[in-house]
Amino acid sequence: MSTEDALRDPGLAIVTRGLGKRYGSRVALEGLDLDVPRGRIYGFLGPNGSGKTTTLRILVGLIRPDTGSISVLGAPYDWRDRRRMFRIGSMIETPAFYPYLSGRENLAVIAAAGPPTPRRRVDEVLDAVGLHGRAADKVKGYSLGMRQRLGIAVALLSDPELLLLDEPANGLDPAGIVAMRELLRSLTAAGKTVLVSSHILSEIEVLADVVGIIAHGRLVRQGPIQQILAEGSRIRVRVEPAERDRAIALLAGLAPVDLPAIPGADPGLLSLRLAAGRSAEVTRILGDAGIWLQGLTTESDLETVFLALTAEAPTGHDRSGWGMAPPGDHA
Ligand SMILES: Nc1ncnc2c1ncn2[C@@H]1O[C@H](COP(=O)(O)OP(=O)(O)O)[C@@H](O)[C@H]1O
Ligand SMILES: [Mg+2]
Repeated sequence: MSTEDALRDPGLAIVTRGLGKRYGSRVALEGLDLDVPRGRIYGFLGPNGSGKTTTLRILVGLIRPDTGSISVLGAPYDWRDRRRMFRIGSMIETPAFYPYLSGRENLAVIAAAGPPTPRRRVDEVLDAVGLHGRAADKVKGYSLGMRQRLGIAVALLSDPELLLLDEPANGLDPAGIVAMRELLRSLTAAGKTVLVSSHILSEIEVLADVVGIIAHGRLVRQGPIQQILAEGSRIRVRVEPAERDRAIALLAGLAPVDLPAIPGADPGLLSLRLAAGRSAEVTRILGDAGIWLQGLTTESDLETVFLALTAEAPTGHDRSGWGMAPPGDHA
C-alpha cells in the first residue's frame, strides 16, 4: 500500500510513515512505520530505550517529530487540532497526582481542567479500573499499581476513541494485568482502539491482539500476535534413528527440518519450524509412512523471536524486519 493510501485507510487508527526523532545527536526514532488497526489492542513491545515513550509523546502532541507523516483516526495529524484531546486518552509515564487528595478528588480536578465530562463519569471510570472501594482514600496511600489504575481512569475520562497507555502494567500483579485485559477488551468490543506499550514480553502476550516490536527506534516486526507466535514456533519430534533420513524427506515438504546442532545429541531428534497447531499433520504424515513418533513437543517462542529481533536491529541487515528468521534456522 502506498503511504498516501495507508494514511487515509479508515481501518487504521494510527499510521506513521518514516517517523524520525533525535535528541541532540541521539537518534530515538528512525523511519518508524506503524499500522495500528482500529478496534484492537495493539501491543507496542520493545526494550528500554527503544523509543516507545518518544513515539507516544509524539502521538499525543507533547513533542514534534523531525521527520515523517502521521494520521490518527483516519485523518492527517493536525498539531493545532484541539478536538484531538477529546478523541485520544493517554497515560504516558507514571502520572503525578495530588498526594493529599483522594483518588476521586484527583479525578474531579483533572476532569474540570479537560474536555467537558458528565459528573457521573468520574465514578464510572473509578469503577472501570476497580478503584471504587478506595476512591475516598488519599492518593499518598496508593500502591504503584493503584496509581497506574488511577492514571488509566484519567485516560478514560473523555470516553476516547483511541487510548494510548505507556507501560500500563507497571506495578500490577498478574491478577491486575488480567483485570486490565478485561477492561481493555470491553473497550475494543465497543469499537475503540487501544495501544499499550511494554518492555515485558509476557505482558504483551497477555494483553495484545496485534503486536509491533520496536528496537533502536525502528519497527522490526508487526502483525497479529497469533501469527507471530506461529512463525516463531517449533515442533520437535523424536523418531527411531534408523528412520531419521526417511522422516526428514517426508517432512521437508511441510517445513524446513533442523537436526540437532550439538555433536553427540540424540540422533533421532528433528525440529521443524512449524506452528504448534500443526502437530497432527506431522503425526499423520509420518504415521502414513509407517514411522511412529517416540515423542513430540511444541514451543511457541515469541520470546526467541523478540530477543533475536531486538538484538538484530542496530545496523540492521534486513531493514524491513519481516524476513528475519529466529536463531537456529537454516533458511
Ligand atoms: N528528553 C530526552 N533527552 C535526551 N534523550 C532522550 C530523551 N527522551 C528519550 N531519550 C533517549 O531516546 C531514546 C528512546 O527513549 P524512550 O522513547 O524513552 O524509550 P522507551 O520508552 O522505549 O524506553 C533513548 O535512547 C533515550 O535515552
Ligand atoms: Mg518508556
